[in-house]
Amino acid sequence: MSPDRYAVIGNPVTHSLSPAIHGAFAKQFGESLTYSVIEPPIDAFEAWVAEFFDAGGCGLNVTVPFKSQACDWVDNLDEYSREAGAVNTIRVTKKGFEGFNTDGVGFMRDLERLGWTPKNARVLILGAGGAARGILGPLLRASAGVVMIANRTPEKARYLADEFEGAQWVGLDKVEGVWDIVINATSAGLGGDGAVVARERLRNAYCYDLYYRSDGKTPFVDWAQKVALGVSDGLGMLVEQAAEAFRIWRGHKPETGRVLQRLRRSSKF
Ligand code: ATR
Repeated sequence: MSPDRYAVIGNPVTHSLSPAIHGAFAKQFGESLTYSVIEPPIDAFEAWVAEFFDAGGCGLNVTVPFKSQACDWVDNLDEYSREAGAVNTIRVTKKGFEGFNTDGVGFMRDLERLGWTPKNARVLILGAGGAARGILGPLLRASAGVVMIANRTPEKARYLADEFEGAQWVGLDKVEGVWDIVINATSAGLGGDGAVVARERLRNAYCYDLYYRSDGKTPFVDWAQKVALGVSDGLGMLVEQAAEAFRIWRGHKPETGRVLQRLRRSSKF
């Protein structure tokens, strides 16, 4: 029998760490599976997904920029993908294609690993795009004291806050006060110098970047760590969201600590 086939679909996706992560998970259980990368042209998501499953594929991870298209493509959504408006995991069953979003679970598990407790904390989220949307529900359900969305375009922060009861919003240049946890959900932290908000707002806060780089620190982490109490990029979240996807597909949850350590060693950070 040929091994079960999985893949991650995105564009660009060739440097994805997901094949290595899922390969390590499969090895833990002595299971034989393949996990490849699929990079369709931006306008060909649906055709390429259909082809993957027609050819016997068992499950897909979906990444930028296809997560919201995946939401429309699947037959059913779980509560997390419905809330996030984005699917990052697809499973095929007799009932059809099921969409999941494991990013929020992955994020919360990584916070737990770090010992950064959101309960009663003042949490500042920088950015109001898809990455911010994916973590709002989990943070609010974890009884964070304040969840403030700060965005360069304030109206987008307001729209998002309106959708999530309990969330507050502010313009990025109007953020004030002291914060326990600051989360970078702006894509700016990847390309620029990481300086998305006045640095004083990060003083003595735990600063988490939802993004990561496979070759070292993100600009946000580098910039934040001069005043922060602690910093982390999103590599742990990547491993945890993958573990949850693996559990959805295969029925058992892999161990993540050693996989993260190994990736950390090879990323030089
Ligand atoms: P994602 O799905 O990764 O969140 P997105 O939906 O394009 O990506 O959202 C990108 C976020 O980064 C937005 O909140 C954007 O702010 P605007 O809504 O004002 O565009 C934020 N962003 C991007 N570049 C930025 C910059 N240079 N400074 C501050 N915020 C930035």
